[in-house]
Amino acid sequence: MKYINFNNAGSSRPFSGVNSAISNFLDVEKKYGGYFATEKYQEKLNGFYNNLSRLINCRNEEISFSSSTTLAWNIFFNSFEISKKQNIIIFENEYGSNLIYFKKQNLNLKIVKINSNGKVCCKDLKKKIDKNTKIVCLCHIASQCGERIEVERIGKLIHSINPNILFVVDACQSIGQIEVDVKKIDCDVLVGSGRKYLRGPRGTGFIFIKNSIRKKLKPLILDLKNTKFSKKGLKVSKANIFENFEYSPALKIGLSKAIEKINLLGIKKIEVDIAKKSKFLRKKLERFNHITFFENIEYLTGINTLRIHGYSSNQLYQYLLSKKILTSISSCSSSSIYFKKKKLKDVLRISLHQYNTFDEICYLIKCLIDLIKK
Ligand SMILES: Cc1ncc(COP(=O)(O)O)c(C=O)c1O
Repeated sequence: MKYINFNNAGSSRPFSGVNSAISNFLDVEKKYGGYFATEKYQEKLNGFYNNLSRLINCRNEEISFSSSTTLAWNIFFNSFEISKKQNIIIFENEYGSNLIYFKKQNLNLKIVKINSNGKVCCKDLKKKIDKNTKIVCLCHIASQCGERIEVERIGKLIHSINPNILFVVDACQSIGQIEVDVKKIDCDVLVGSGRKYLRGPRGTGFIFIKNSIRKKLKPLILDLKNTKFSKKGLKVSKANIFENFEYSPALKIGLSKAIEKINLLGIKKIEVDIAKKSKFLRKKLERFNHITFFENIEYLTGINTLRIHGYSSNQLYQYLLSKKILTSISSCSSSSIYFKKKKLKDVLRISLHQYNTFDEICYLIKCLIDLIKK
């Protein structure tokens, strides 16, 4: 029996065709060397922008390829000044690495409540936005809790209060599993990773920067790719502004292939399918009082977190591993605010993807029931 991957929120199994697209390119590199190989593959490399812009509904030049969400996040925040007077608004589901950045920079943070039903407390958000609010950052789906946040509603609300506030969306866990449309969300910046629900290779990600805010940004790393010398001084490129000269074309081609597959399948279909699978899991286990799930069933995505009375998350993880089921543990480090509020040390995370079958989910359910009945 093969291992079943229910750690898609960590890293999913790449789509078929992704690894071969990468190795085909590496073979070309082997034959010609890296530079001529990229010349030969220029069209395929440009395909990355076509595929991603189609998926998130933006323009090609608004995208920069990156190696991870965290890198994209950091290069964005390092590209403009935030004064001590200004504030940044985040929410109670904020991701650990993003929190580390804010802490390191000692930025003036305000944290908006997420209600116990999984919805953003709009009253609290309205109260916290003031004339010094520069940025609002929101995780579309958190790493440690799979409730789907209504980013479209929040985007509209923020910009109706002040159109100059930058709305930054962390789509690391949502991209590839639910619709992410930057126009509908009305966001200025959006970041995501390739290895999770997009089913691309590790070491890939991207950042979207809305054309209209580009002039406000001064990329931290300037080089021959994004900058030219001109008589008036340095001229930063208008397109793909956070890209530098050196990167991995093989991985970019792999990510492009994965996004092409998502576009072919249709994100709406994937979204419905994943939610159906999570709902199935929840319904089959709802009669067992020993199990506590932490997501509101109304806002389910592929990420389901739970605890089972009498077992630690590590015991659950090890037990499922012995049954060849891969899951993960989310703990305080992934979101200190969330775990503190919930008064939890950790939870077991089961993250389903579309490629997971109902048979696999039934096997998981059987293993969990066997454990409870022991
Ligand atoms: C919500 C969220 N944001 C950001 C990240 C960081 O992504 P990366 O590890 O690709 O930098 C993660 C990783 O799991 C995440 O879940």
